[in-house]
Amino acid sequence: MIQNNIRKVLSKHNVIPVVSFKDPNDVEPTIKSLRSKGIQCIEITLRNEAAFDCVKAAKELKIADFHVGIGTVVSVAQIERATDLNVDFMVSPGIHSGLAAAFEKSGIAFIPGIATPSEIILGKQLGWDTFKFFPANLFGGIKALKTYSNVFPDIVFCPTGGISEATHQDYLELPNVISVGGSWLI
Ligand code: 3PG
Repeated sequence: MIQNNIRKVLSKHNVIPVVSFKDPNDVEPTIKSLRSKGIQCIEITLRNEAAFDCVKAAKELKIADFHVGIGTVVSVAQIERATDLNVDFMVSPGIHSGLAAAFEKSGIAFIPGIATPSEIILGKQLGWDTFKFFPANLFGGIKALKTYSNVFPDIVFCPTGGISEATHQDYLELPNVISVGGSWLI
């Protein structure tokens, strides 16, 4: 199995704003504000009832070169719904072989989450090479990523969790970090 072209998507966005909307009316002004800061993507998390409507609202804006991702994906049903909405990328906080077939079948770029070496090995077994490192601040942050770079030289990460304006640049300077994500951008 081949992980979809998530590296291509992430290479266009060194920072990914992670947003939990409660109201679809908030989507357009938030995206406008992000674009005014030069940010051309958003990850909308599935953490409340309004989440899918908010993703739909973001996609309906049809902004050229703006990527709408869906985050906190934890089930096959969510992957199928996200696929129907034609999201630009999908993010999961964890990794599970039960989601692999649905992710691959979707044809949409996706990034599973890992925190430990065993999870990275599971991801490699599934044929994947690009992971969200979450929650980065609680699982060793920059020190862990430096160790993972020695142990898993072919793996690239998008750390999220506890990253801030003050720390994000230090993460981005690591050779195995392609992008960083977080709510500090909103
Ligand atoms: C995520 O899902 O990536 C996190 O909720 C973002 O973490 P943060 O809110 O600590 O930036």
